[in-house]
Amino acid sequence: MKRIGVLTSGGDAPGMNAAIRAVVRKGNYHGVEVYGIYHGYEGFIQGKMKLLDLGSVGGIIQRGGTKLFSSRCPQFMEEAYRLQGIQKMREAGIEGLIVIGGDGSYRGAIELTKLGFHCIGVPATIDNDVPGTDFTIGFDTAINTVVNAIDNIRDTATSHENTFIIEVMGRNAGDIALWSGLAAGAETVIIPEEPYDLDEIVERLKRGESRKKKYSIIIVAEGAMPASKLAEMLKEKAGIETRITVLGHIQRGGSPTAFDRVLASRLGARAVELLLEGKTRRAVGIKNYQVYDYDLMDIMTTKHKADISLYTLSKELSI
Ligand code: F6P
Repeated sequence: MKRIGVLTSGGDAPGMNAAIRAVVRKGNYHGVEVYGIYHGYEGFIQGKMKLLDLGSVGGIIQRGGTKLFSSRCPQFMEEAYRLQGIQKMREAGIEGLIVIGGDGSYRGAIELTKLGFHCIGVPATIDNDVPGTDFTIGFDTAINTVVNAIDNIRDTATSHENTFIIEVMGRNAGDIALWSGLAAGAETVIIPEEPYDLDEIVERLKRGESRKKKYSIIIVAEGAMPASKLAEMLKEKAGIETRITVLGHIQRGGSPTAFDRVLASRLGARAVELLLEGKTRRAVGIKNYQVYDYDLMDIMTTKHKADISLYTLSKELSI
């Protein structure tokens, strides 16, 4: 294989640039030309690409976002457009593709492999919800951003003796809420994977009050419910007044942490090796700190599982 492509797709994640850099540099190391495909699958369909040389990925390892831009592309659901994209790639001599993104992006890659186009997936999403890897690129940065925000909110919460509800991202997964809640010492964490008990939340708040603790931090994952709904319920149920902060897209930005840069470098480089070994329909991941690869099709049958032991621990530590 002498020429490959790389694209980023779905929600951007800090560390995507570090992964692009790794793909380009590793490709060049092995004498392979790497083309950046712009705007995700949209650019794939339209053949929007540019040769990325060594210098073009200089100075991006520390930058959040994605140099290649990203998109969510409904057209890609149609086979005719996928075939059009493959045609564009073949005309340009591109024989394989590295897809950096979440499980939605992986589904697109699977469809391409069914049409005979070689693809390797690299997991990148702040949600950490790609099955088959302990961590996705961007998750560590996102939880650090969230923890910094919670620390700031805690200052004002203690000063005014308020209860704060902080809504974090995680459409289907509670990982951001779990990890940041534990790291920031939140009193209550609500995630989509576990049922919540309003009576227990109220009791916990009251218990805090009875030992002269006048403020509380509740973290709620967006996939469980909106912060506003919980605020209404607490008010209705027990007359508890709360303040709300929805962190939103601030969680997707920022300079990637060292952990995310290292992860992105390792996974991006391994993805290039796999293409060069003639492999296709594989995804790279990390398990117990070791890089490995698995069949992309596994994501169709396996579901990401948040580490529920963190949920239990978080409850135990905030009695
Ligand atoms: O990338 C995943 C994610 O951050 C989710 O947690 C969130 O629900 C979603 O993206 C928001 O996406 P958009 O910016 O397209 O609204």
